Amino acid sequence: MQTVRFALLGCGQIASKHGAALSRLVPGAELKAVCDSNFARAEALAATHRCRAFNDFDQMMAEIGHEIDVVNVLTPTGYHLDGVLRVAAHRKHVVLEKPMALTEHEGLQMLQACEAAGVQLFVVKQNRFNAAVQKLHRAVRAGRFGKIVVATVRVRWTRDQGYYNKDAWRGTRAFDGGVLANQASHHIDLLQWLVGDVHTVSAYTARRLVEVETEDTAVAILRFGCGALGVVEATTATRPKDLEASISILGEGGAVEISGFATDEMRTWQFKPALPEDEGVLAEFATKPAGQDRAYAHAQYLRNVVASVRHEAAEIVDGYEGLKTVRLIEALYKASEQGAEIAIPRAAPNRAVVGPLSGAGIRAVYPAPAGQLYAAK
Ligand SMILES: NC(=O)c1ccc[n+]([C@@H]2O[C@H](COP(=O)([O-])OP(=O)(O)OC[C@H]3O[C@@H](n4cnc5c(N)ncnc54)[C@H](O)[C@@H]3O)[C@@H](O)[C@H]2O)c1
Repeated sequence: MQTVRFALLGCGQIASKHGAALSRLVPGAELKAVCDSNFARAEALAATHRCRAFNDFDQMMAEIGHEIDVVNVLTPTGYHLDGVLRVAAHRKHVVLEKPMALTEHEGLQMLQACEAAGVQLFVVKQNRFNAAVQKLHRAVRAGRFGKIVVATVRVRWTRDQGYYNKDAWRGTRAFDGGVLANQASHHIDLLQWLVGDVHTVSAYTARRLVEVETEDTAVAILRFGCGALGVVEATTATRPKDLEASISILGEGGAVEISGFATDEMRTWQFKPALPEDEGVLAEFATKPAGQDRAYAHAQYLRNVVASVRHEAAEIVDGYEGLKTVRLIEALYKASEQGAEIAIPRAAPNRAVVGPLSGAGIRAVYPAPAGQLYAAK
C-alpha cells in the first residue's frame, strides 16, 4: 500500500504534534522533512523525528520535492495563504492548520489554487475526532435530539500577556485574530458541524486583561437554519488558570454536554426514550483513556488524510468546510463592529464556490454580495 510522505512548513508549537503523530501514530505515513525560516527550530524538530531540515521551502522542494506527497502548513495564520499557494504550485496536497484563513477572500484563493493544481486541501479540525465528540455527532445524525433547542460553546482558557508577547504575530489582526478567530474557531466549527448552517449572528467583543490589538473575550448569539439558537462565550482572559472548553446541545429528545480542557470529557448524556447503550456512555467517555497521547486527535485527523490521499474512505474536513467557519467568524466580527444582527449569505453547493476571484466572481457565487450586512427580520 502507498506510503504517504509528508513535509512540515513551520516548526513551532503545533508542529510538535504533527511530528509526533506522523512519526509514531499514523500508519502508512512518513515524515520526510521539516522547514522553518528559523533554521534552529527546523533542526531541532528534524533531530527528534530523524528527517531532513530546511530553512527555505523552495530549496526543500527542489531537493526532495519528488519524495513528498503532502505538505502541512503550520505557519502563523496570516501566512497560511502564502504557504498554501506555494505548496499548490508544486502540486502537493495541503494539510492546513486552523483557522484556515482570517478572511473568506483568502480562503477562496486557497480553494481555487488547490482546485487548479488538482490537489486536496485539508483543514485541521482535530476536535471533531475526539471520541466524545464523535459519539455526540452520531447521536445528532441518528436524530436522537429531535428538535434542537439551544447549542452552547464555552471556551474559558488562560492566555496571559507573556503568551501574546512570545511571538510578534500573536494577538495581531493581520496575522492571528482574537479569541474568536484563533482559540474558539474549533468550537464554532463544532457548533456548525453538529447543528447545521447558521443564518444570523449577533456578537460583542472586548479586550479585558491584555494589551493586544484583538479581543480576548467575546460573546455571540447565533440563529441556526433549523430554528435552534446558539450561544458562544469565548475568552482567553480566564484567571488564574484554564477552566474548560465545552459544548452542550439541548433538544426535545435529550441533552449532552462535553467539557474538559479540550472538549473531550463527556459530562452529561441523557435521552428520553433511553437506549440500553446509554447506560455505559458516561463510563466510557467521561475521561480520556489513561495515557492517551497528546497528539491523539491530530493523529486521528491525519489518519484520515492518509486514507483520502490513497483514495480510501475517509472522514475529512476539506477547504469548503474550513471556509464555512471562516465565513461565520468574519460575520461575528462584523456583527460586533456594527452592533447589529447580521445575516450570513447561504453558501452555494461546494463546487460552485470556486470561481474567478475578482469581486464579481465572488458575487456570482453568493446570493448576496460577500460581507453585505443587512438586518435580520
Ligand atoms: N489545531 C490546533 O489546536 C492548533 C494549536 C495551536 C496552533 N494552531 C495553529 O497553527 C498555526 C501555527 O501556530 P503555532 O502556535 O505553532 O505558531 P508558532 O509561532 O509557534 O510557529 C510558527 C512557526 O512558523 C515559522 N514560520 C513563519 N513564517 C514562515 C515561513 N514563511 N516559512 C517557514 N516558516 C515560517 C516560524 O518561525 C515559527 O517557527 C496557527 O495558524 C495556529 O492557529 C492550531
